[in-house]
Amino acid sequence: MLTRPDVAVVGAGPVGLAIAWRCASRGLRVVVHDPAPGSGASHVAAGMLSPVAEAYFGEHELTGLLAESAARWPGFAAELAQAAGVEFGHRTEGTLVVGLTSDDLAEARRLWSYQQGLGLPITPLRPSQLRDREPALAPRVRGGAVAPGDHQVDPRRLVVALRSAAERAGATLPPGPVARLADVDARVTVVAAGCGAAALTGLPVRPVKGQVLRLRAPDRAAPDFRHVIRGYADGESVYLVPRADGEVVVGATVEERADTEVTAGAVLRLLRAAVDLVPDLAEYDLVEASAGLRPGTPDNAPILGPLPGHPGVLVATGHHRHGIVLTPVTADLITELVVTGEADPLLAPFTPDRFGPPDATHPGSARVGPAGPESSTEEERTWN
Ligand code: GLY
Repeated sequence: MLTRPDVAVVGAGPVGLAIAWRCASRGLRVVVHDPAPGSGASHVAAGMLSPVAEAYFGEHELTGLLAESAARWPGFAAELAQAAGVEFGHRTEGTLVVGLTSDDLAEARRLWSYQQGLGLPITPLRPSQLRDREPALAPRVRGGAVAPGDHQVDPRRLVVALRSAAERAGATLPPGPVARLADVDARVTVVAAGCGAAALTGLPVRPVKGQVLRLRAPDRAAPDFRHVIRGYADGESVYLVPRADGEVVVGATVEERADTEVTAGAVLRLLRAAVDLVPDLAEYDLVEASAGLRPGTPDNAPILGPLPGHPGVLVATGHHRHGIVLTPVTADLITELVVTGEADPLLAPFTPDRFGPPDATHPGSARVGPAGPESSTEEERTWN
């Protein structure tokens, strides 16, 4: 690109690519920096669009943002399908929450009672109703509930679709990494680098390891079940995400670790829980065992907005367990901020300054001067 870009996005996961697509569609010159697009957390993610079954105690603000983004997903998916011309496995059969033993059911019920208390759409089912919906469930599953609005998408295909849409809209992906913010030359820089945002910005983003399995139905037939299944099985929490092409994603561990080794113990626990809930899975091929790093934050909520002390730099990271479901709302809000300089009120609980000033000693966050001659001081005031 010969002229200075309007927007440089650092990070080509779903969030970064969606921002690039939206900004390019608004007529901005956009570059996306990532030496390996789609190789971060999204590469192992299951793709649950789960604003209800993943609404946890004490996370009110986050729960509201999940619901807002999930509501945007159908329109986002329709637009993306048209813009990209490729399919990305968006499925809307809903999610079943199930408990294997009476203890497991008590744990699941405690959470769904909380979710119902928030007015979220989740409805208890008798065991016979569960099995009418999914005959593949083990007969000894004690009970559960349905969250009809909790859907799914295939994150690997989503990345392909978003990249295609972004490039068709005019965004470019030059090769090469970005080690420091000072390496980026654009009117606005958006840091959407997942765990890598910590080194670039000094913000408190920490890796949270997740180990995930991929099974495949014999002969690549569609799996024996259609709903996402969120299960509790002898004290293990597990989710099963069936794809039309025969894949079933089984996830995931949640570990305060920064390595990506796959351990025998985790594979054993995930498989045992999966087969306890859906016995036929024992006949499936185990085709992949992988681990990824979720970008976690001190309050488990994303970090969205201007980076304190860095005019012209915005942050969109820290999506932790919710990067895929939060992609549409993140892209919309950050794009609006880039284009108009106005912060949507939805951003208020998630701004980077809620954690105090970033760690200024972090080498990657050093930036030489503000965004440059094309950036107006008015914009910089609005953002800071
Ligand atoms: N969203 C599910 C997970 O992070 O494991």
